[in-house]
Amino acid sequence: MPSTPRGPAPVSARADPKLTARAVRDRGSGGPPLAMVAVYDFTMARLFDEAGVDILLVGDSLGNAVQGLANTLGVTVEDICYHGRAVARAAARAHVVGDMPFMSFQVSPRQAMANAGRLVKEGLFESVKIEGGEEIAEHIRRITQAGIPVMGHVGLTPQKVLALGGFKVQGRGTEAAERVLADACAIADAGAYAIVLEAIPPDLAARITERVSVPTIGIGAGPSCGGQVLVSTDLLGMSRGHAPRFVRRFADLGDAIVRAAEQYVADVRAGRFPSEEHTYEANRSTDA
Ligand code: KIV
Repeated sequence: MPSTPRGPAPVSARADPKLTARAVRDRGSGGPPLAMVAVYDFTMARLFDEAGVDILLVGDSLGNAVQGLANTLGVTVEDICYHGRAVARAAARAHVVGDMPFMSFQVSPRQAMANAGRLVKEGLFESVKIEGGEEIAEHIRRITQAGIPVMGHVGLTPQKVLALGGFKVQGRGTEAAERVLADACAIADAGAYAIVLEAIPPDLAARITERVSVPTIGIGAGPSCGGQVLVSTDLLGMSRGHAPRFVRRFADLGDAIVRAAEQYVADVRAGRFPSEEHTYEANRSTDA
């Protein structure tokens, strides 16, 4: 028998209201910084929601973190929707946003609208996130006009990894910095309710945060942003191999899981598991 309950998520014991995209946007004008985490499943989402995380992102980082791919380019709308449904069931308070994967929006504003609609209808998302700057401002305008809130994402946009020649810091030097600033302003003007700033120098992030009227959410963008985002497997210390400089491991669950699994293997092999306490009695009908 699984020990985790099935069925709908329990309503949070706290009385906190569900965080809407509008409430997230309004945090730009004050309040504590937003805490956002990329998660992909019900169990993790429920724990992060219980911890008070404001925004749960089903990021296309699931390509790396869940599917074991080298980058995010293989992730599909179906993948995002599948994980979105699991996360949405767990989020009693946190706002739930879904990433628009590579080639689900680049073709045209019309394609972007159709796939944003799928994320809401099939993935149960409350808003969508879309990578890019000036070149997708019209896409964002059209999606928001259709009634779907959009979170932007500028600086290092991993869906452009092939063109960028790797996962590199963006916005270094005057010209590059002006380009990232112009991108952020363009998508804020187009109606984005918040903007992720990835892998840019902190002074540029501070300028952007000062300039746009919606919250900025940084990942490798320094402390001046209106919030921060990390990938759950990174912050829990479950990722292996090289970690980007911006990752802080708040726990070492990777090592803890390996130790627990080693203990399990040893106890099974030695006949120490299951013991009497984990074994059903023949004459009782009520235990589970
Ligand atoms: O895909 C993702 O998880 C992201 C965050 C790192 C911002 O885009």
